[in-house]
Amino acid sequence: MLIHKLTRHVLGFVGFLSRAEAYFKTCCFCSKKNNMAYVLDNSSRDVSRLSYLPKECVLPKTSEKVVLDVYDAKLDYERLYETVKDVIDDGRTYPQESMDRDHFESYYLSHNVFVARSNGSLVGAFYVKPNFPGRSSHICNAGFVVHRDHRNKGIGEFLFRNYLRIARDLGYEGSFFNLVYATNVGSLSICRKLGFAEVGVVPRAGRMKGMGYVDAHQFYYDLTSLDADADPK
Ligand SMILES: CC(C)(COP(=O)(O)OP(=O)(O)OC[C@H]1O[C@@H](n2cnc3c(N)ncnc32)[C@H](O)[C@@H]1OP(=O)(O)O)[C@@H](O)C(=O)NCCC(=O)NCCS
Repeated sequence: MLIHKLTRHVLGFVGFLSRAEAYFKTCCFCSKKNNMAYVLDNSSRDVSRLSYLPKECVLPKTSEKVVLDVYDAKLDYERLYETVKDVIDDGRTYPQESMDRDHFESYYLSHNVFVARSNGSLVGAFYVKPNFPGRSSHICNAGFVVHRDHRNKGIGEFLFRNYLRIARDLGYEGSFFNLVYATNVGSLSICRKLGFAEVGVVPRAGRMKGMGYVDAHQFYYDLTSLDADADPK
């Protein structure tokens, strides 16, 4: 009798432990996933077809040399984190209100990331990932940042131009930007200059730091319309 009772207690406790373990794993797994409006697969696309990277370019505005390359954690992690965190803390262009390292890794580093370096140091970057899951995963999204000490030199435009070709070569068919806030003059200017189609405006889409509510513009680019061999420079 006593043995039966003891066995039941032990089994009950083991059951509790395995449920607790499953719950813990679920929580950890979820926090590593990119769960915004949708759950996305956490997989980057094969960059081996981007045989033109690394690519050196001279910025027309300043004649500065920059190298566009695939993100390398050893070279780029700290400075990219610093740059993204600075943009988020500034509070005027991205929707997030804070960005610790875990958040940065699951949001910014979850899929493909490309960087521009000057003299070996990161000056700007963008991620490319599906904007939606499954049936709409051929439409991608990107997030651009230029380090504050390197803005207005043409690096942003250089990144946007190269993003289009890279996204196409990674197999995406369209690009869709959900929230380009009306106050983000730099991005609006680049999207319009490069011929993105302005497909919508979301009223009062963001409570930007020190600005109250601002509208957001939405831009689409048909990546299948790109000239197959054109080098975006
Ligand atoms: C937006 C951002 C990537 C632009 O990068 P950048 O290297 O400064 O941009 P460029 O030097 O290529 O400028 C491109 C054009 O935008 C204009 N521009 C850029 N920033 C501007 C600003 N703050 N105000 C007015 N015009 C601006 C430039 O004058 C230039 O126009 P031109 O070609 O007619 O001369 C950069 O400002 C940034 O990282 N901002 C914070 C994060 C962000 O907004 N990311 C994009 C989210 S969608």
